[in-house]
Amino acid sequence: MKIAKKDNKSQFAKASPPGRLEGLFFLIGFMACGKTSIGKLVAERTGYDFVDLDQWIESDKGRSVQQIFAEQGEDAFRKLEHEYLQKACLLQHTIVATGGGVPCFYNNMELMNSAGKTIYLKFPPEKLHANLTGFGNLLGLMPQSRPLIAGKSDDELLQFIRETLAEREQYYRQADFIVSGNDAEIAEQIIKKIAV
Ligand code: S3P
Repeated sequence: MKIAKKDNKSQFAKASPPGRLEGLFFLIGFMACGKTSIGKLVAERTGYDFVDLDQWIESDKGRSVQQIFAEQGEDAFRKLEHEYLQKACLLQHTIVATGGGVPCFYNNMELMNSAGKTIYLKFPPEKLHANLTGFGNLLGLMPQSRPLIAGKSDDELLQFIRETLAEREQYYRQADFIVSGNDAEIAEQIIKKIAV
């Protein structure tokens, strides 16, 4: 019988590259708080991988979030989110941007907090409203691509954000870290947390 020679060098090569940080970080927070853009920025700056949960579902299922809501309903979407979150919990050295509702369904908050660290990007309703309707939304597509707020007038949208954020805060508050500020400041704060 041929015995394979133990090759320490190749075993070492299988481990994370030197200087590469281990860990799994979940960005949570309301729609349009910047989870995807800031997550990508942090990933670029740290060498972490980046995963956007909604985009992962969309590319696997070949359907947009809007289509899933329209064809199968919100409950089916929440099940999918939970399923893909479980897969994301198995990743390492990754920043995961989650959809705004993820922390509020099933035991998702518990799941994320046991698999890695959660970071809540916290903003007041007025700022989120501005992101969804103002400069951050020059083409006017932001609310339309988000089924929960599609078709709402400006006033209705602000009201919806206030009420929904108030309900969701109890989940968001369970995050390991809470960050706020402009995109660059938040990215810096997250990078510091990751590097600890
Ligand atoms: C949702 C947020 C969306 C998306 C879906 C539902 C929510 O993600 O998952 O439209 O319930 O807040 P973003 O937070 O990336 O907009």
